[in-house]
Amino acid sequence: MLFLLLLLLFSSSSSSSSSSSSSAITDLEQAQLHLFQQYLRINTSHPSPDYTSAVSFLSAQALSIPLISQTLFFSPSKPLLLLSWPGSDPSLPSILLNSHIDSVPVEPSKWSHPPYAAHRDSHGRIFARGSQDDKCLAIQYLEALRALKASGFSPLRSIHVSLVPDEEIGGADGLAKFVESDEFKKLNVGFVLDEGQASPTDEFRVFYADRLPWSLVVKAVGSPGHGSRMYDGAALENLMECVETIARFRDNQFDLVKAGILAASEVISINPIFMKAGIPSPTGFVMNVQPSEGEVGYDVRVPPTVNIEFLRKRLDEEWAPVIRNLTYELFLKGPKLSDNGGRPLSTATDESNPWWSVFTKAIIASGGKLSKPEILASTTDARFIRQFGIPALGFSPMANTPILLHEHNEHLKDTVFLRGIKVYEHVITALSSFPGNSS
Ligand SMILES: *[C@@H]1O[C@H](CO)[C@@H](O)[C@H](O)[C@H]1NC(C)=O
Ligand SMILES: *[C@@H]1O[C@H](CO)[C@@H](O)[C@H](O)[C@H]1NC(C)=O
Ligand SMILES: [Zn+2]
Repeated sequence: MLFLLLLLLFSSSSSSSSSSSSSAITDLEQAQLHLFQQYLRINTSHPSPDYTSAVSFLSAQALSIPLISQTLFFSPSKPLLLLSWPGSDPSLPSILLNSHIDSVPVEPSKWSHPPYAAHRDSHGRIFARGSQDDKCLAIQYLEALRALKASGFSPLRSIHVSLVPDEEIGGADGLAKFVESDEFKKLNVGFVLDEGQASPTDEFRVFYADRLPWSLVVKAVGSPGHGSRMYDGAALENLMECVETIARFRDNQFDLVKAGILAASEVISINPIFMKAGIPSPTGFVMNVQPSEGEVGYDVRVPPTVNIEFLRKRLDEEWAPVIRNLTYELFLKGPKLSDNGGRPLSTATDESNPWWSVFTKAIIASGGKLSKPEILASTTDARFIRQFGIPALGFSPMANTPILLHEHNEHLKDTVFLRGIKVYEHVITALSSFPGNSS
């Protein structure tokens, strides 16, 4: 599996270095790359993203297109930029293109180029935090809209772009608050595109659901005793049994992935995050007392198709039974388990969803290919949209690109970035011209 991945990475990087990257780049494309680099040079990494500079840069670009621009605050000093191009029939549900402004932090010493310099190397690779996740999207949306404006295109449906804060820290003060607002309701959004992920092959990836993030904390109690004594019912003995049982379940899920039967995003992942036990002493821990309590915490990710009662039953009966002095708390970190109509938080990728066929046809028309729709192994802001029953797809047009989000040396090749603008020109045209399937 690792070998295969390396092979893919190797083949994609070798093909990228052999293709001529900069020779065929036009003046317009140079300008588009320059805008991308300027945006990447604004440090919007946590813990204190420079939202002010990012929003003033982006809104200046939007006004030059021109798009209608509004800066909304759902939390002090966390601006959300909403850009709009009204359609000729404002009664039709609109299209929303979403991208987050913030990025995760970096370890600068581990980078081969400074992470906020947006250096473009001789292969055309632009190195910067946010180059893949997901600052490319904001500039691609804007440049696609600029090109469409310049071509005289007139959308039937209104097109909106939301550039939101705080996605990387859970989105509570960002898209989560926006979707609850009157401003959002007024947009009458019918379909949303949000971030996806790079693809090492020449097919684009598309995501129709996120796994739901849960936290699990198991607590054990038991009789304390001298470190030398063998007895039943010690807290940590009970806790270790729980840890081993969960580890076996995790192995089984992982085996399904390793055998290629399920994708990593289609299984339940349950990874230990912390273990807390022992009686502290000035030099570490008291080494001759078996403590009376202990706990262990897990990050749990569940595909939207799995009923959480399945996990609760296993916890009650096998992993953390009360008769072994174990108790647990399992809590959802995201907003909701299902949408407001009680359906799983996922977007249909078949003919039941007319947007799906408009989207896929537009990708083909742009000369692109789509791989089998996937569930995202992690979580994005799209879940806040799906919660309203609004269809949302995760899509970042980055084919033949190693997956580098949140990694050292995150980069994106110039030609891949530029091709993305063309892809969005097709996609935005098709979505905003879609008359709807109402007869
Ligand atoms: C980027 O911003 C973060 C704060 O969010 C800060 O810790 C970091 O030093 C900044 N890096 C640079 C190169 O300015
Ligand atoms: C549960 O804990 C109590 C003390 O708190 C202890 O007496 C008992 O043996 C423990 N039972 C099990 C099954 O560990
Ligand atoms: Zn992202």
